[in-house]
Amino acid sequence: MKYKIHTFGCQMNVYDTGRIERHLGAAGHTEVDTEEEADLVLLNTCSIRDSAESRVYGTIGRLAKFKREKPGRLVAIAGCMAQKEGERLLNGSRIVDVVAGTHAIPRIPKLLERAANGAGPQIDTEKSQEDLFDDPDLPPDGKEIHRYPVFVSIIQGCNKVCSFCVVPYTRGIEVCRPPEEVVRECAALVDRGYHEVTLIGQNVDSYRYEEVEFADLLMRVSRIEDLDRIRFTTSHPQDITPKLIDTVAGLPNVCESFHFPLQAGADRVLTAMKRGYTVEEYFEKLEYLENIFGSRDENPFAYNISTDLMVGFANETEEEFEQTLECVRRARWDSAFMFKYSKRERTAAYPWEDQVPDEVKSERLARLISLQGEVSLGLNRNAVGKEAEVLIEAVPGYDPEQDIDVVKGRTRTNKSVAIQPPMDKALPTVGRRVPARIVSCRPVTLTGELVQQAGSAKV
Ligand code: 5AD
Ligand code: SF4
Repeated sequence: MKYKIHTFGCQMNVYDTGRIERHLGAAGHTEVDTEEEADLVLLNTCSIRDSAESRVYGTIGRLAKFKREKPGRLVAIAGCMAQKEGERLLNGSRIVDVVAGTHAIPRIPKLLERAANGAGPQIDTEKSQEDLFDDPDLPPDGKEIHRYPVFVSIIQGCNKVCSFCVVPYTRGIEVCRPPEEVVRECAALVDRGYHEVTLIGQNVDSYRYEEVEFADLLMRVSRIEDLDRIRFTTSHPQDITPKLIDTVAGLPNVCESFHFPLQAGADRVLTAMKRGYTVEEYFEKLEYLENIFGSRDENPFAYNISTDLMVGFANETEEEFEQTLECVRRARWDSAFMFKYSKRERTAAYPWEDQVPDEVKSERLARLISLQGEVSLGLNRNAVGKEAEVLIEAVPGYDPEQDIDVVKGRTRTNKSVAIQPPMDKALPTVGRRVPARIVSCRPVTLTGELVQQAGSAKV
């Protein structure tokens, strides 16, 4: 079969799409660029908020035409919605042929085969403890162009019980991957030409395989030769430890970049969320980071902090929301993902009355995004005139704002930088690390120029 995959949601899904591609490839199926050429469309779906699910339902509706146009075409749904909705995805529509939950990826080829042979709709939402990670022995996906970031999953599922979150139900309990496997997959990526990997999990800090904790895993991965940069996400404020922070500081190829979501700025809301920390405890971790890595005012590339923030949870009052705004001013996160609370079935908060009207959530979200934008811009302005090492992530592309070709990359601290090379020099290639001087900025990107010097700049 020729297949086309659409991926929704987080890095976990991006990683899982890679796994699905490899399983489909091993079964003899090939990827095509457009739905018109495809016999199979697979949606790798997300359940985190209602808006994510609506987008998927919209896409399923649109695929009615895809199926009508050519008999025998198949539609498969994988990922968190497949796990959560199960049979409901089949009910009422004749569009979906295969529903494959978050633990069913290795079985997708079999499910498709049965559906193609007229066995009717196939559903597999079994949760297993095995086959939850990529198998480096399967042939690569054939996409040898280096696309950054590249993800390596180290832990699947989540054992927290945040009262708003559906992930523990869609992804199941935590299962940690053996450290040798993680190292093997990272080394295989380096062999394919990657210089940077991002270790991912819903909560990487709670990684533990026998005696190996997350900090130990970082040490092992950092020993891989030619692996210049190691990133990791997401950390949980309750679990991010001084040992981990010290380890990051001590390993030259582990990036000093920390994504650990505060979620909300009022202790009452954090308690209702069952997050397990107070605002002050969160800020103590920030202080520790500053003590270890130094002030971002003195060196804007000292380290990076980012967060997720949610508005409107647990009947959040205006005053409580303003406490979140205050945290934005005080923490000065480099960036933040910001959301309106969306009630999810099966979560502890589902039965609670959600009295914050949608217009109020929208208005708070807009104020929050605007303030965070100012903070990000302020931090970026501080970087103008300074130098940083940039790892090139994308082939030259046209930047309409500047009317020139640029290459895009990132600093160790996860800042996106567009680089305009000097006229007489070739554009640097993907995967190279180059020194750049920042010449201007916007809230989410910096613009830089190459610094003429031998070797790469150390920040
Ligand atoms: N509504 C809104 N945002 C949510 N998130 C998780 N669950 C919900 C929900 N029900 C956000 C949190 C989390 C991020 C991945 O998504 O901020 O950190
Ligand atoms: Fe969801 Fe909380 Fe687990 Fe994050 S830590 S995935 S928010 S339950």
